[in-house]
Amino acid sequence: MNSNQPSTSAHDVIVIGSGAAGLTAALALAQDHKVLVLAKGTLTGGSTAWAQGGIAAVLDAGDTFENHIRDTMVAGAGLNRRETVEYVIERAPHAIERLMALGVPFNTEGSNADKALHLTREGGHSHRRIVHVDDATGWAVQSALLQAAQANPNITLLPGRACIDLITGRHEKRYSGSGRVWGAYALDEATGRVETHVARATVLATGGAGRVYQFSTAPRGATGDGIAMAWRAGARVSNMEMMQFHPTCLYNLEVKNFLITEAVRGEGGQLKHPVTGNRFMPEYDERLELAPRDIVARAIDDQIKRFGLDYVHLDISHQPPEFVKEHFPTIHEKLLSLGIDMTREPIPVVPAQHYTCGGVLIDLAGRTDLPGLYAAGECTESGLHGANRLASNSLLECFVFGEAAAADILDRWDAFDEPPPINPWDESRVTDSDEEVVIKQNWTEIRRFMWNYVGIVRTTKRLERAQHRIAMLNHEVEEYYSNFRVATDLIELRNLLQSAELIVSSALKRHESRGLHYTLDYPAMLAEPRDTVLVP
Ligand code: FAD
Ligand code: SIN
Repeated sequence: MNSNQPSTSAHDVIVIGSGAAGLTAALALAQDHKVLVLAKGTLTGGSTAWAQGGIAAVLDAGDTFENHIRDTMVAGAGLNRRETVEYVIERAPHAIERLMALGVPFNTEGSNADKALHLTREGGHSHRRIVHVDDATGWAVQSALLQAAQANPNITLLPGRACIDLITGRHEKRYSGSGRVWGAYALDEATGRVETHVARATVLATGGAGRVYQFSTAPRGATGDGIAMAWRAGARVSNMEMMQFHPTCLYNLEVKNFLITEAVRGEGGQLKHPVTGNRFMPEYDERLELAPRDIVARAIDDQIKRFGLDYVHLDISHQPPEFVKEHFPTIHEKLLSLGIDMTREPIPVVPAQHYTCGGVLIDLAGRTDLPGLYAAGECTESGLHGANRLASNSLLECFVFGEAAAADILDRWDAFDEPPPINPWDESRVTDSDEEVVIKQNWTEIRRFMWNYVGIVRTTKRLERAQHRIAMLNHEVEEYYSNFRVATDLIELRNLLQSAELIVSSALKRHESRGLHYTLDYPAMLAEPRDTVLVP
């Protein structure tokens, strides 16, 4: 192709994102159709590859779907949609079977005839029900899905593509006000050119917005791109105030986002005051270290603030060293490289942002408000997590909704029209940025005020301060965006700011404390759970 020509490519379906949700959808769609998978950066750059603990599923004879449903809704403080919770949980065992068929080597116990999947336990779960691959489940899942996608002749994987915006009716050559989605404009990160990718259906699977916070376990690319793109295109988003903080991220001045899996507490790890060595969870909840995440994170935050601490201790050194090494080989090795031997001493930990419970509103078939646009995984609000996600329910959500979105597209295929002619990306009025420092400064500023003003414990005054700053930055970023050629950092900054705005607006609308949204101005929980739905 002539490099000066606008580049347009047409496909049956476009999937944006190559994590658990995107690749699950792509593999199911590829039975019948040609699928293009676009991914920012590398194909393994999303959160999926970093998941540690595992995947929740009812697989033990003593456990029931009803137990898992109840645990999910207790953790979610009743904001979950029961229909969704049932839908996902009942499909969990089948999702695990599919992953095993793809070759995911889940840990087992027993031998020969007695051999069964090893189930670990995490906070908020009343039973052992987490299947895992040591303490690096995500990497095993990501590798198996990617291998299957690479081997599938109907799937084209295009890494290094940062999608900028969804293509809708207003980008058609014959302008239409329709919100019908026809694909996406994507920046080729290697050449700096913007490509036009069109398709009959598009699946958003772009992950969360964790990087909106200064401290987060999420990878660098978790900047809420899909949520912001869908919002700009006209889709509703829901419950964005429900940002989950994981209680135990390693406290280390150099390694800032290394997670210490909840399974450490599931296997007996205890939280202790670092000076007195006393366990403090008995002060906060009868479920102790295995209370749901929001409660444990708030307890740690309280200890840190009350005693002026930098961190608290997570201690599993009372377990036999072989047990610790066998269950947590990746964490053990990583900590040893930093001079901490978890078999003999406690681990310094702090809470950090971990998961985006809110997102693009979808129904049980993964459909968004916009015709032709589906979504799955962490970028969505499906009704599963409510006000606080139960540990290890999110990979599960990716598999179930990746599959559901694909099934609905396959079912309705004949109703999806061919894309009309689309305008190419217009770059005629922009030049290269002359002040990269603006982007860096704004990234840092957003992440810092979000951490300080919109964190684990909130107040209306702090939320309003954040809102004020967002308004000022909006003006600056939009001006920058209109004048300079797009680059990944700039695309992400715009989306990060949009995500921050959605989080703060949602938080200001909720006049109660429920699950992850805890505000000193409205400490009580209202009788009726109600979603915070924002309409563009
Ligand atoms: P991701 O896996 O995040 O993938 C997003 C994809 O979208 C990537 O390919 C990215 O490149 C692409 N993308 C983003 N923006 C763009 C753009 N503009 N253009 C093109 N592509 C784009 N959950 C569990 O259930 N169990 C666990 O044990 C667990 N452990 C976790 C540990 C850590 C450290 C973290 C951070 C999360 C953990 N989670 C866990 C949560 C879980 O990993 C995620 O919710 C899940 O993997 C999200 O999958 P996804 O497919 O929705 O998105
Ligand atoms: C963890 O391993 O603690 C993370 C599990 C999750 O986020 O679901």
